[in-house]
Amino acid sequence: MTVALIVAAGSGERLGAGGPKALVGVAGRSMLQWSLDALAAVAEIERIVVALPAGVAAPPGVIDVEGGAVRSDSVRRALAQAGAGDPVLVHDAARPMLTPELAEAVIAALRGDRGADAAIAAIPVTDTVKRVDADGTVRETLERSELWAVQTPQVFRRDALGRALAAPAHELARATDDALLIEREGGRVIVVPASDENLKVTTPLDLKLAELLLSARAGGSSAPAPVKPA
Ligand code: CTP
Ligand code: MG
Repeated sequence: MTVALIVAAGSGERLGAGGPKALVGVAGRSMLQWSLDALAAVAEIERIVVALPAGVAAPPGVIDVEGGAVRSDSVRRALAQAGAGDPVLVHDAARPMLTPELAEAVIAALRGDRGADAAIAAIPVTDTVKRVDADGTVRETLERSELWAVQTPQVFRRDALGRALAAPAHELARATDDALLIEREGGRVIVVPASDENLKVTTPLDLKLAELLLSARAGGSSAPAPVKPA
């Protein structure tokens, strides 16, 4: 069975909402709740652990842990409380557009490839990407057909994730995802085609986009669903 970790302990500085980003409301629910609801609908996920800022409690039904100073610390702390279960799915609360189908596809991709250590959601890059020096001079144009923009969820064989998170602190601090740490050790990471709708909410513009998309998913209205009569 799979255990899922949601990292939600960031401060959301670039969003500038004046509080933890995971708790920001979008289309009637917190960003964290959208991801929790998607993962709760995946039958093979048996447990969910959420890393949160100090003093913030998780909703009922999930295990909460206090996050760390950097993202990989939050992943490590959540993994330490995850109990038994392999593989391990890691998801950023900053991606509230997650669907159960995407989580299932990433879990299935890892199961279907015995030689892979991790499977990660990703989309082909549509922009032309250049490497640029600190002084603003273009050094190189990367071959776009080889470039993928990676997302979460990322699903790991548990031993591979454990080894990756044992990397030195300065490497962990710079890792913007967990798969990077596995690639560097020569592990095999495979991409699973995802949707550009599975966007990461970083800036206020992203939040507006997520609000539009999730309101449409909720039936064209961001108002809470009517309560059914008993
Ligand atoms: N995260 C975490 N613990 C940290 C830092 C980040 O759990 N110490 C989580 C965030 O909550 C988010 C994900 O990692 O779900 C991706 O991080 P990012 O989008 O950078 O979120 P923030 O760090 O909150 O935003 P910012 O960098 O703008 O402050
Ligand atoms: Mg951050």
